[in-house]
Amino acid sequence: MAKKRRSSGKKIGHDPFADMDMSWIEEEPSPKPADKEPESTQVAPESIPPAVPATAPASPSQPEATFHFPDDFKWGVATAAHQVEGDNTNNDWWAWEQEEGHIQDSHQSKKACNWWGNAEADFDRAAKLDLNAMRLSVEWSRIEPLPGEFDEAALARYAEMLQGLRARAIEPMVTLHHFTNPLWLVDEGGWENPETVDRFARFARRVVEALGEYCDLWCTINEPNVYGYLGYVDGVWPPGKSDQKTAFLVMRHMLLAHADAYREIHDVQPSARVGLAHNMRILDPATPNSQLDRRAASVADRAFNQAILTALDKGRWVLPLGFGPAWRLRGTLDWIGLNYYTRELVAFDRTQRESLYTRRLHAPDAEMLDGDYGEFYPHGLFRCIKRLDRLGLPIYVTENGIPDDDDDQRPRYLLTHLHEMWHAIQMCYPVKGYYHWTLVDNFEWAEGWSLRFGLFSLSLKNKSRKPRQSAQLYADIIQTNAITPQIIETYAPELRAELLPG
Ligand code: FCB
Repeated sequence: MAKKRRSSGKKIGHDPFADMDMSWIEEEPSPKPADKEPESTQVAPESIPPAVPATAPASPSQPEATFHFPDDFKWGVATAAHQVEGDNTNNDWWAWEQEEGHIQDSHQSKKACNWWGNAEADFDRAAKLDLNAMRLSVEWSRIEPLPGEFDEAALARYAEMLQGLRARAIEPMVTLHHFTNPLWLVDEGGWENPETVDRFARFARRVVEALGEYCDLWCTINEPNVYGYLGYVDGVWPPGKSDQKTAFLVMRHMLLAHADAYREIHDVQPSARVGLAHNMRILDPATPNSQLDRRAASVADRAFNQAILTALDKGRWVLPLGFGPAWRLRGTLDWIGLNYYTRELVAFDRTQRESLYTRRLHAPDAEMLDGDYGEFYPHGLFRCIKRLDRLGLPIYVTENGIPDDDDDQRPRYLLTHLHEMWHAIQMCYPVKGYYHWTLVDNFEWAEGWSLRFGLFSLSLKNKSRKPRQSAQLYADIIQTNAITPQIIETYAPELRAELLPG
C-alpha cells in the first residue's frame, strides 16, 4: 500500500522513496502513561554518610526540590569482558587489533584493565561508591576455546568474580555476548552462519549451568544493531565487511540466537530474568518541516531502532531487517535493556544509496561530546524510555555515559540524564535500574584507549586508577538515592535554573 503523499509545493529531483512501499515506516501509537498508578518514591536508608548532606536545609533563596528514586532502584556500572579483562588472545577482536590500520593510534587491548587477574580491586572501588549492581560480560572464547570444549578453569574464575560481587552486596547482570567471538566460530562463518544460533544457545546453557548459583539476571546479546552496522556496513569492526544485506542477516541470526538462549536459560534456571541490551539513538529530521528529511529520519529510525524491537515484541520481521513471521522471538524478553548515548539528525540524501538515502549530521549549535561522539542530548533518554514502555516490560538502562577525560562535561551529563530518568519514573515508566558506562577507562574498540568513559581514570603507564569528580557525584546520588539541590549546587551549579523550580 503506497503511503499518501502531501503536496509540498516544492519537489526537489526524483524521490526514490516514491515507488517503495513505505507503510513499514509508520509509527505505532504509544499508550498514554497517565492511566498508571505512581510508584513509591521514598528515600532508601543511607548506608554510609553521604559526602553531601542530602537533607541539609537549602539556602532561603534556593527552593527545596529533591528528586527521589524508588527504594529498590538498582545503581550500577556496565563493562564488557574484552574491554577490561586483558589477554583475550583467542577472539576476533584480538586478531583485528594486531592488523595495522584498524584501531586509532594502533592501540591494542593487551592487559586491558587486568580484570582477569584482579577484577576484585575494581569491585572494591565499585563497593566504595555504594553501587548495588554491576553489568559485566563473559568471554565466549575463554569459556569455549574450541567447539564443544568448555574450560572449567575459566568458568571457575567467572564464578569467583560473581561471588566477589555478591560478597560486596553488588548484584551481577551477566551479558553472554558483547561483540567478541571465538576464532573457531569466525572460521566457521561467524554470525553469517545460521548454525551459530545453535552454538550460542549451547554456550548460554553451559554458562547458566555453571554460574546460575551466583546470577539470575542475564543479558543475552549486546546491541545487535551496532554489531551489524559497524562490522558489516561501515566495516570498521571485524569482520570489516561492507554489505547491508549481510548486516541484516547477521542481526536476524543474533535475534534468533537470543530467543533460543532465552529458552535454554529458563530451562536450566526457571527463575532467571533474561533480556537483551538494545542501543537506541534519537534520529530526528535535520529540517523538521522537510517531508524528505522526515521520511529519511523515519527510515533510519526503523532500520536502526525500531525493526529489532518490532521483531522481539511482535514476532515479525519488518523491512529493512527482514520480512515475514518471526514467531520464535515472541515472549523471549523478561526485560528490555536500553543503551542510550546521543542523538543525530538525519537528512535525505539521494547520493547515499548504501545508507537508505539518509545522511547523519548534527545541528550547528549542538553541544558535542568529546571525540566527536555525538550530541549532548539528555532528553533523548526520556524519549527512548517512553518508547520502550510500549513493550510492557521492566526497563533497565543498561548503558549511558560519556567520553570525557577531563570530566568537564560528565557531572552535567550524569545529572541531566539521571534527571530525565527520574522524570520517566515519575511518569510510571518501569525503569528498574541504571548502569553507567563505565567504572574505569577501558579499551574502547576501534577508538582504542583514546575515549575515556570511566568514573575512574586509568593510567596507561602503570594502570593506576584515580577517581574523577563524577565518581563522588555518582556516589552521592546513590547514597541519598536522590538528586538533591545540594548535589546540584556542588557539582553543576550551572544546572540550578534548568533542574530546580523557582
Ligand atoms: C556501547 C558498547 C560498549 C561501549 C560503549 C561506549 O555501544 O556496548 O561496549 O563501547 O558503547
